[in-house]
Amino acid sequence: MRDFIFENRTKIIFGRNTEKYVGPEAIKYGKKALLHYGGGSIKKIGVYNKIIDSLKTAGIDITELGGVVPNPRLDLVYKGIELVKENNIDIIIAVGGGSVIDSAKAIAIGACYDGDVWDFFSGKADAEKALPVATVLTIPAAGSESSNSSVITNSDGKLKRGYTNNVITPVFSILNPENTYSLPPYQIACGAADILAHLMERYFVNVELVDLTDRLIEGAMQNIIKFAPLAIENPENYDIRAEVMWVGTVAHNNLLDTGRGGDWASHGIEHELSGIYDIAHGAGLAIVFPAWMKYVKTLNPFKLVQFGQRVFGITDKSNDETIDIAIQKLEDFFHSIGLATRLSDINIDDTYFDEMAEKAVSKNKNSTIGSYVKLDFDAVKEIYQLAL
Ligand code: NZQ
Ligand code: ZN
Repeated sequence: MRDFIFENRTKIIFGRNTEKYVGPEAIKYGKKALLHYGGGSIKKIGVYNKIIDSLKTAGIDITELGGVVPNPRLDLVYKGIELVKENNIDIIIAVGGGSVIDSAKAIAIGACYDGDVWDFFSGKADAEKALPVATVLTIPAAGSESSNSSVITNSDGKLKRGYTNNVITPVFSILNPENTYSLPPYQIACGAADILAHLMERYFVNVELVDLTDRLIEGAMQNIIKFAPLAIENPENYDIRAEVMWVGTVAHNNLLDTGRGGDWASHGIEHELSGIYDIAHGAGLAIVFPAWMKYVKTLNPFKLVQFGQRVFGITDKSNDETIDIAIQKLEDFFHSIGLATRLSDINIDDTYFDEMAEKAVSKNKNSTIGSYVKLDFDAVKEIYQLAL
């Protein structure tokens, strides 16, 4: 096991009617809040009114900024930064999914910085401080409610880039599984694919003897594989929704990469897809991850065999067969929740493979991504080919 520092400051408030805590918690950070949200689902499901009531009761002045779109855009982040400065905002409250939360996090660092907030995402600068961000989560997926990352799309160049810094970890997050009942099956499926991907990114590492986190990740993977289809079949079953919501947070709050780190190549490869084609992140991952496995399986089979044996219970086959069956079972899982596992199924061809592979590897100084197997330009392009 490697040395590590584990820090996660997010206070999680989980359960029914927990929106009532947003005012009492937020007032600890100041009297002026920016309420940030997406395209209107929070009004339809009634969570908007509950939050307004709680904030007003706590004596908080509210400035609103809606309109965050999936794969959140830099333009709205700039608008949010202006609003925060004009209104002397003390805390940003993001109500929605990963896109809303990531937009809030970008506003939070941009408002405390004299330069262009894109400097953080392009690697030119590092944030020293941020306004506090709090969240009310409505979709289990990205894990942004307790992660130290934000992913923003700059429409200029169709660049989707992430930034990681503990200053943007939310100070508190409210998770009420009832707020996820209204999710369309496709959004549940995309969220589940992202949750499983966050677990797999952490699972596929070369560090020897990390049994505790191996076992925790395997249990979490089995959990999401079991409960995602059940959540789709039973949209208003509280306990099932609660399982999916909590595993989504645990999958990405950095506990599961303690002492081991992660691979993250598949995320890098997917971000180029959603940057160019504006597809849902989880939908992209359901296509990229099986292709990544097909590429790395001969170069580094060890952990894939363990994955097949322990997660899918394949114990009576050769190593090669175990891996192939495991990849097939992973694809079967994605199909069972309505996701495609080939680019051609979602009408994406090889037009931008060179551009995407170049962008994916050029983020890093050594022009490779991943750690389980280091991938250069040719390898990434081959993975896009395998995904066709
Ligand atoms: O805009 P609204 O009306 O809210 O609709 C949203 C959106 O259309 C809808 N939705 C959310 N809650 C709902 C609901 N519809 C009905 N009922 C509800 N209760 O769902 C759609 C998708 O929302 P979005 O926030 O985009 O989904 P998700 O949480 O999957 O976030 C995806 C973004 O997070 C990034 C992804 O790259 C992508 O941009 N990620 C962020 C990470 C992080 N910050 O740590 C890590 C992840 O790996 C990921 O990269
Ligand atoms: Zn993800």
